[in-house]
Amino acid sequence: MRISVIGCGYLGAVHAAAMASLGHEVVGIDVDERKIDALRAGRAPFFEPGLPELLLEAGDAGGLTFSTDIAAVAGARVHFVCVGTPQMKGEFRADMRYVDASVTSLLPHLQPGDVVVGKSTVPVGTAERLAEQIAPTGATLIWNPEFLREGFAVEDTLHPDRFVYGLPTDEAGVVTAAGEAAKALLDEVYATPLSDGTPLVVTDYPTAQLVKVAANSFLATKISFINAMAELCEATGGDVTQLADAIGYDVRIGRKFLNAGLGFGGGCLPKDIRAFMARAGELGVDQALTFLREVDSINGRRRERMVELAREVCEGTLVGKRVAVLGATFKPNSDDIRDSPALAVADMLDKAGAHVVVTDPQGIENARAARPELHYAENVLDAVRDADVVLLGTEWAQYRELDPDALAGVVAGRHILDGRNVLDPARWRAAGWTYRALGRP
Ligand code: UGA
Repeated sequence: MRISVIGCGYLGAVHAAAMASLGHEVVGIDVDERKIDALRAGRAPFFEPGLPELLLEAGDAGGLTFSTDIAAVAGARVHFVCVGTPQMKGEFRADMRYVDASVTSLLPHLQPGDVVVGKSTVPVGTAERLAEQIAPTGATLIWNPEFLREGFAVEDTLHPDRFVYGLPTDEAGVVTAAGEAAKALLDEVYATPLSDGTPLVVTDYPTAQLVKVAANSFLATKISFINAMAELCEATGGDVTQLADAIGYDVRIGRKFLNAGLGFGGGCLPKDIRAFMARAGELGVDQALTFLREVDSINGRRRERMVELAREVCEGTLVGKRVAVLGATFKPNSDDIRDSPALAVADMLDKAGAHVVVTDPQGIENARAARPELHYAENVLDAVRDADVVLLGTEWAQYRELDPDALAGVVAGRHILDGRNVLDPARWRAAGWTYRALGRP
């Protein structure tokens, strides 16, 4: 089927390439010429494992093209809206300008029977508003939220754990005939993963939009819950990693997303919980989500606590101290530094007077552009040379496996701060290091 994908960021570029690999004829649209030039040349404009291979494969087969001209969507029957909804500056609300602009630019090109598929994360009520705008063209809107994780985006797109379709319903709550026809077309697009048995939840617009923010809020809450327990462990001498293992054996709780440390960052969880709170306020149900304010505060406090730990091991002052920060990205296997806890801590250490040297396997370029005042090193050895303190901020595999003996001769002071609770304290202590972590004795 010929389909279009509007927005070629972390979500859209992967979606376009993945849909092409399923055999569809895909055109990807973005206003950013640099991004489109890279994609046309078969290069991923950001680091995402598996994406370069998928782009080359799809490009060679001829089923994937890119354009900055929205008119290139002509002939497509299904149009995926994959643009970003960042947090508004100085507010909790989501900035809807990219979603609104994409739909407005798409309108003149829509044909009766076309399907517009909303994948961006939006405040509930957006789908209803966009559906009204689209209705005069004879096209139908489906709300189909995306749950991919950066670093696993290709796998998550090709083998999602579920599909959610929000369909238009009539006053009695029954899916409209246009909705049924649109669903049949989207089923055709997703025929391969559907035939693999991927669960499909068919629902209405509000539920589909809420599913997405509810899922991300739950994940953020789980992380802040364990980080709150880390605060209790710090006050009592307990060990949060053992606590997480122990409660995680209860299948009702589960061990996933119970890793205590510097907390959550990225382009989704932080801004999604804030936008959700803002939307609840507009709907007059802000009380339902006041707990998310606490989730956000706990998350922020972990960063401050890490700076305190660094100050403690530096005997009370960071001024003039050399700190190596391992990791700039918000999580491993990504070059995304949006709201990165590691980089936020690096910034706070810098403001406290430390000389901060940051390294990262993929994120240095983005970090340097966002925080030019910090110092950067291409590798761990250069970053930790003469450091008074080494801080692990992002749990890249190569940092988990660092050899404390190898680093001992290079640093000025053997102090390691494990911001992700991934190092073996006994091993580091045996090599003569002071090991400190969040929520551990
Ligand atoms: C998140 C969701 O997990 C996806 O399902 C969703 O589709 C996506 O947002 C989105 O809305 O687009 P992502 O932002 O890629 O995905 O990152 P996560 O894997 O959720 O990690 C978020 C943050 O939480 C990272 O900074 C990570 O280090 C932190 N984290 C995660 C913890 O601190 N502890 C944990 O146990 C797990």
